[in-house]
Amino acid sequence: MNRVNALLSAMTIEEKIGQLTMVTAGWAVTGPVLAGDPREGVRAGRIGSLLNLWGRDVVDDIQRLAVEESRMGIPLLLGFDVVHGHRTVFPIPLGEAAAFDPDLWEKTAAAAAAEAGADGLTMTFAPMIDVARDPRWGRIAEGPGEDPLVASRMAVAKVQGFQGKSLASVDRVAATAKHFCAYGAATAGRDYASVDIAERTLAEVYLPPFEAAVRAGAAAIMPSFNDIAGVPMTVHVPLLREWLRDRTGFDGVLVSDYTAIPELLKHGVAADLVEAAALALKAGVDIDMMGFAYEKGLVPALERGLIEEKHINESVLRVLVLKERLGLLDDPYRHGTPRSSGQPIPDRTALAREAARRSMVLLKNDGGTLPLSSGLASIAVVGPLAEARGDMRGPWSAAGRDTDPVTIVEGLRAALPGCRISTAPGVAVDDPDTKGIAAAVELCSRAEAVVLCLGETATMSGEAASRADPCIPGRQRELAEAILGTGRPVVVLLSSGRPLVAPWLFERADCVVATWFLGTEAGHAIADVITGKAEPTGRLPVTWPRAEGQIPIFYGQRPSGRPSNPADHYTSKYLDVPVEPQFAFGHGCSYGRIDVAAVRASPSHLRADGRISVEVDLTNDGERASETTVFVFIRDPVASIARPVLELKDFKRAALDIGQRLTLRFELKADDLAFLGHDLAPCLEPGVFEIAVGQSADPVHLTRTTVCLDG
Ligand code: IFM
Repeated sequence: MNRVNALLSAMTIEEKIGQLTMVTAGWAVTGPVLAGDPREGVRAGRIGSLLNLWGRDVVDDIQRLAVEESRMGIPLLLGFDVVHGHRTVFPIPLGEAAAFDPDLWEKTAAAAAAEAGADGLTMTFAPMIDVARDPRWGRIAEGPGEDPLVASRMAVAKVQGFQGKSLASVDRVAATAKHFCAYGAATAGRDYASVDIAERTLAEVYLPPFEAAVRAGAAAIMPSFNDIAGVPMTVHVPLLREWLRDRTGFDGVLVSDYTAIPELLKHGVAADLVEAAALALKAGVDIDMMGFAYEKGLVPALERGLIEEKHINESVLRVLVLKERLGLLDDPYRHGTPRSSGQPIPDRTALAREAARRSMVLLKNDGGTLPLSSGLASIAVVGPLAEARGDMRGPWSAAGRDTDPVTIVEGLRAALPGCRISTAPGVAVDDPDTKGIAAAVELCSRAEAVVLCLGETATMSGEAASRADPCIPGRQRELAEAILGTGRPVVVLLSSGRPLVAPWLFERADCVVATWFLGTEAGHAIADVITGKAEPTGRLPVTWPRAEGQIPIFYGQRPSGRPSNPADHYTSKYLDVPVEPQFAFGHGCSYGRIDVAAVRASPSHLRADGRISVEVDLTNDGERASETTVFVFIRDPVASIARPVLELKDFKRAALDIGQRLTLRFELKADDLAFLGHDLAPCLEPGVFEIAVGQSADPVHLTRTTVCLDG
């Protein structure tokens, strides 16, 4: 601290503002504005951090300018969106969330951090922990799905994975939890759109993952682009200053999103860049990413009396402390870092394959279409994603190369060397031409089985990639219907960054696997699962709608006074589609058969400081060893505030051999029965609570018991 204070006191106002200025390297862009060559600005001390620049040689060169040629010699932060892998690309976070495995989430983050560190990076703009309940929103792909508990656990695992025990370790990077807050609740799923949610929803659903990230020690947080009820998050004093810093104790760096500060003018809350800069700084935003608002606006803001120098100093100190924690003040070049070879590293490749296998969700497998029989002599692998390579990386895949991923066809050829594998696209994802359908159908009619690869391209989800109609795009439905009409056994693989609305497909196809975007090892992992070498174990981290009109859709809804009843007109339902989703949160089939045989909760009565032990007996009466995820929900049927029909409190995975019986134990605290009262403070009300246990949130498959909280 002495060192950073000494630095601060020796800096000119321009140098201080430089520490608060982040620019992108000229050739890389993740927003609407490009910077020129940053070198002169670095030399002059006008730039304190860069984004989108990686590779040891270029990073060392530019770091040398900062350290040796700028007056203060303060090293740069180097940030990049290492969201799901760096060189080795892991599944998109929504896919990885389906593994319901914090250990896996942490391992992939640690591997990504090591690769990013080897490329000279010191900061990632990840994890993305936005709860998302609207598949129209393209960024649902980048996050943990719909549930606040899952999002919180992912936040902790990812922060720990990126940062490790010490930020100064050369194979770790500073994590930036983003986007704070409620970005996923954008009106009508349109990226960057306004958010208008109840304070209660904010507190119950959207804030907890950020609290978890802060508790896990996240070095940085990025305010989101959206406003909440008219207050853009970049200037949201109650949430940034009061909730995040004062109440939750976040003392790290707030880095704005790309050009978010000048966008305050378009939001209509600042008249000019000077006001915008002053508002953001006063809200506690330390680094201006690509906005040039601090550079241009903070000195005039001082002159106009909109801010005081102490506001600038506070932010500069936080940036310098982060640089110190990263070890940059001792070793700006992080000399111990192994240099990146640019090539996939074998143990990371194995991890990528494991993560990809475990991210897949077998949505439907009627008639045991999967696993494919090992004796097949011929398979037709058709559809526009059959030979897609770059797309397998998915959105925001950092430094992964388009040439690295294993395609589905390649994966199957490697796994089934004795099988004749033919392929044809049939149609393209986004082209109206249907001339290829006939050839694809012909191929399928000559094969013993068909793998039909449908879905989206990678650019159809991610930032600025909202879809009003999140269906299977283009002419793929015509292709699918023609192929399903051949009568061959068809396995449909759906590559996508979101649940795709396709009730026709789920009605007609016997077997559908959600494969998201699985990253570098996509093809091998898919082959592992569909040949039965690996069990499909993924479970949906989001509710899968059957119609666009059901969106937003999530399991934790509040009860209606007129619950849906198709036989009763005046109930909460649709005239044209059922209220039930296509697939519930947590849904996922496997090749084995694990059942919940019994659930016990004890003690039956507890006090406010008590604990509840939940025992879940599982059986595997199937013909394969298998694995499942068990979810423990609660329901508070009578409370002073209506509680959601289900609230997830814990989840665990369990593996069972054939014929095995196993008891899984969960421990809940009485506090887990608490909720936010009228004043939004936690309150625990005595009464009876339901504990609902199952392998998904589908109410039909939940086993319920009760406990009583005594007054
Ligand atoms: O980190 C991202 C953010 O998620 C969206 N806008 C651009 C940033 C930097 O690339």
